[in-house]
Amino acid sequence: MTQYERAVNDRLEKLKRRPRARILAIETSCDETAAAVVENGRTVLSSVVHTQIPLHVPYGGVVPEIASRSHVQKIGAVVRRALDEAGLTLPELDAVAVTNGPGLVGALLVGLSYAKGLAYAAGLPFLGVHHIASHIAANYLSDLSLEPPFTCLVASGGHSHIIVVEDYERYRLLGRTRDDAAGEAFDKVARVLGLPYPGGPNLEKLAREGDPTRYRFHSAFNEGDGFDFSFSGIKTAVVNRLHNAQQAGETIDRADLAASFQKTVVDILADKAVRAAQAQPGAAGEKLALAGGVSANGALRAAMEQRANKAGIAFYCPDFAYCTDNAAMVGSAAYGKLMRGETDALSLNAVPYLSIEEQTQGA
Ligand code: KG4
Ligand code: ZN
Repeated sequence: MTQYERAVNDRLEKLKRRPRARILAIETSCDETAAAVVENGRTVLSSVVHTQIPLHVPYGGVVPEIASRSHVQKIGAVVRRALDEAGLTLPELDAVAVTNGPGLVGALLVGLSYAKGLAYAAGLPFLGVHHIASHIAANYLSDLSLEPPFTCLVASGGHSHIIVVEDYERYRLLGRTRDDAAGEAFDKVARVLGLPYPGGPNLEKLAREGDPTRYRFHSAFNEGDGFDFSFSGIKTAVVNRLHNAQQAGETIDRADLAASFQKTVVDILADKAVRAAQAQPGAAGEKLALAGGVSANGALRAAMEQRANKAGIAFYCPDFAYCTDNAAMVGSAAYGKLMRGETDALSLNAVPYLSIEEQTQGA
């Protein structure tokens, strides 16, 4: 046994006697450099997010190489601030957790390597966390009473999933997108509307001034009974509507187009998510949560809440601070694993494509 492994075992033994865990969490899967300290999976002692948005605006999207370099430049200061704001030093922590996938591989590697270095130097348990599991766990930070089982819609830039959260680390995938993720569709439509990166929030802002009933975009696939989504047809329909209007010399109201697109996507997401919850027997059908970057969208939050309430289902969504990428949600997601004494080896790699069922059910 190495000196590091002995130190980790001592820490895990200590945790068994005193079940209070303070986890330093790090997240660098895309374009946010984030660090947080979270106690017992529920209480955020600090959460620092450095966004790279200004760096990627000139390119209209995330440039992976620029993202990795910026993570390298910022991670030290971001982690230091998270520790300072929590008023804790490294030896006072109980573990280091980090996103190890899915995400941009170069970006993931920065956080992963940094977290390994800290864990090794301080003799702390080290844990890799799945990014989607973290987004789901953001709900535990915002509603302390929420416990599995529940049904969850995860809508982010890379994923659109309907998942039954059967237990803290047990997930059953009910549906997924066949093509674009919801956030990706927002970003692509935003771009053709001439809006700057990041597309989702800017499209929402424009949509607030528009009439959501002005244009209609039908999607036969999404009207079916299944729980899979498809957003690329809707995106193409919006693009075609815009181009046809331009060719015919017709003026098109961009705000109305944005509002109509947003309403189409929101209705599909909310309908399917509520139907999915209704289809679950027992407690998993009584609670519906929302997670992922698109959960910051006000129209989606309102539509989900209204439909869930009408169906007699309790609705949960993360506070705005924990909707888009952050490290507090990583600290929450890692808690259960740590308390069971399950840690990862320092050889853990970054995995750019990692299904949530693969990681958690196989574990
Ligand atoms: O979860 P996240 O921060 O990163 C990924 O894991 O992908 O999600 C980012 C995605 C982007 O596609 C962004 O445009 C979208 O979430 N998003 C929004 C809003 N805020 C972020 N989409 C619609 N409305 C918003 N307010
Ligand atoms: Zn994310």
